[in-house]
Amino acid sequence: MNTGTLLEGNENMETVLVTGSSRGIGLELTRQFLDLDYEVIATYRGKPSSSLSQLAGEHQYLRLINLEVTHQDSILGLAKHLKGIKLDIIVNNAGISDPSDGDLDSLTAVDWANTFAVNTIAPLMVSRALLDNLRLSSNPRIITISSQMGSLNHQGTGRYAYRSSKAAANKVMQVLAQDLDADKIIVCPIHPGWVQTDMGGTMADITVVQSATGIIDLIHHLTMEHSGRFFTWNGEEHQW
Ligand SMILES: NC(=O)c1ccc[n+]([C@@H]2O[C@H](COP(=O)([O-])OP(=O)(O)OC[C@H]3O[C@@H](n4cnc5c(N)ncnc54)[C@H](OP(=O)(O)O)[C@@H]3O)[C@@H](O)[C@H]2O)c1
Repeated sequence: MNTGTLLEGNENMETVLVTGSSRGIGLELTRQFLDLDYEVIATYRGKPSSSLSQLAGEHQYLRLINLEVTHQDSILGLAKHLKGIKLDIIVNNAGISDPSDGDLDSLTAVDWANTFAVNTIAPLMVSRALLDNLRLSSNPRIITISSQMGSLNHQGTGRYAYRSSKAAANKVMQVLAQDLDADKIIVCPIHPGWVQTDMGGTMADITVVQSATGIIDLIHHLTMEHSGRFFTWNGEEHQW
């Protein structure tokens, strides 16, 4: 029987879905949401990492679901699995920066398209597939982990695929915010900082703990007035 939550007895908990939770920012968001007594649906592709599996062994309110964000069948399978389940927050975190996306000479069209598939198209497709779940919440939010590298005001060379994919993701989220205004669903892209992960590298400015703590604090303070605006992990508004 469908109870409206994944587990019985926790109807008062908020439920958050985080994509790309096997490592990096997604793993830390999962960990911190659990520590804050959220029910967390963490998605992974292939097999869950040992860190994510370990968390699942320790936390009753963590559910792991396989999701390849670029595959429509996988998204439809997720939506089917979660049918009737209330979601309060979706965090579109899964993202890539392709190794070929270094400079003008190295980028290939295939890698560029793949970067768009993950960073730009998937956040909309995943969010759209789960709108009925969000509509069951009294405070629904769609968060997309974007990047300052997608800001039109941010100067830099190379990384054409990554920069353009995040710029387009920002635009997509701005439009989605307007489309979902009548549903009172808050939609915000967030720059997570330059973070020490496999993607960010060891020289990055901040740790995953700092980034995830800031992102969650920001999410707690979002209201409809903030929907369709671009923020940084530490709560500041970012220029488009
Ligand atoms: N780190 C930074 O400094 C930084 C700065 C600005 C923005 N960001 C953004 O923050 C987000 C998280 O980045 P991160 O640094 O944590 O990166 P990361 O350590 O490379 O982790 C990326 C996560 O995304 C998942 N993923 C990638 N492609 C996927 C796909 N097709 N389907 C499902 N999952 C997929 C990966 O799964 P696998 O483990 O299976 O590969 C992994 O769990 C990304 O959107 C990134 O663009 C990061």
